[in-house]
Amino acid sequence: MSYLMSNYAPLNVAFVKGDGCYLTDDKGDQYLDALCGVGVTGLGHCHPEITKAIQSQAQQLLHTSNWYHIKHQETLAEALCKLAKMDNVFFANSGAEANEAAIKIARLHGHANNISTPTILTANQSFHGRTMATLSATGNAKVQAGFAPLVSEFIHVDFNSLEAIKQHEQNSNIVAIMLEPIQGESGIVIPSETYLNQVQEICQKNNWLLMLDEVQTGIGRTGKMFAHQYNGITPDVLTLAKGLGNGVPIGACLAKGAAAKLLTPGTHGSTFGGNPLACYAALSVLKVIKEDKILDNVKYMSRYIASALSKKLKHITTVKEIRIKGLMIAIELDQNCIQLLQQALDKKLLINVTGQSIRLLPPLIINQQQADTMIDIICGLINDLQAQKEQL
Ligand SMILES: Cc1ncc(COP(=O)(O)O)c(C=O)c1O
Repeated sequence: MSYLMSNYAPLNVAFVKGDGCYLTDDKGDQYLDALCGVGVTGLGHCHPEITKAIQSQAQQLLHTSNWYHIKHQETLAEALCKLAKMDNVFFANSGAEANEAAIKIARLHGHANNISTPTILTANQSFHGRTMATLSATGNAKVQAGFAPLVSEFIHVDFNSLEAIKQHEQNSNIVAIMLEPIQGESGIVIPSETYLNQVQEICQKNNWLLMLDEVQTGIGRTGKMFAHQYNGITPDVLTLAKGLGNGVPIGACLAKGAAAKLLTPGTHGSTFGGNPLACYAALSVLKVIKEDKILDNVKYMSRYIASALSKKLKHITTVKEIRIKGLMIAIELDQNCIQLLQQALDKKLLINVTGQSIRLLPPLIINQQQADTMIDIICGLINDLQAQKEQL
């Protein structure tokens, strides 16, 4: 009997140790981690520099309160703002909390403009978190099921469709649009190259905030520090989490211009958000990304994996599409493939499956030999599926 609530259905494995791209279970077996705790441990498990930073900060000071100045928080805020061309940051502990802050900012923006029912556009098939406001923002009925009444005033539109957004331009209650630059949880859905640029134009025309949820795409995952940098734009609000602490829980909501000044004393807060430990860990993450030229590796390995997958899977009819941006990778099949989770685990590889897509979020530090192992195992599993299909 477990004393845990039943909201997770874990695979039958427990890891006790991590080192770079590998995890070791309690039987001593080693696994290649091509999921990174769902896009978190991009710099690998127990990165020596980050471990050192955590150790030294733990010896110094773990927690005070946001009622006092926190030096590392201010240093991290400055570093993030300079990287993202933003003005101010609020620190939280997770992606959902970072998005909660964004949603509250959007509502304040509305009220500042005398809009009494501020409404936010979000996308179908999006994922923004599991708190009441963020699951209401999420465009997925499964995530919302059982939790009515939802937080109101979210309107869901099709992703990657400007027409779908333009249909709401006459709605004077709209104050913001919140989007993932690439939809992660729904299976790495990559919009057209100019989608975000055009969404920004619509936002600017209508005084809507452009709020980008980069909880999954941020911190180097796509080969740029932030995915929206491929578009040469800066949003009004930007949310981060996952890779920012490389495993130490931290979320951040960044904003620029007037949107950055809307939270005033007493309007928002978090006991743990931005504590010295989390901020110092995140500062060491940013340092490693820069010093080890991690973004170059992401771009190089992305091209390498894309080319290997397309060569190896060229004649496999069960593969419908390969989607890849940086090290966000999906292989869409013509059938549901949930059984591949266990089959990959049996071959000592950690992956994710979303409906008909295999989803990979390998470490940003992955090398060619590790990528070859990942590709060989995945292609082997897909070849088996193809053989079964041909027997039918
Ligand atoms: C794009 C996006 N936003 C928000 C979240 C929620 O983050 P957290 O689980 O840290 O609350 C996730 C998590 O997968 C995500 O992918």
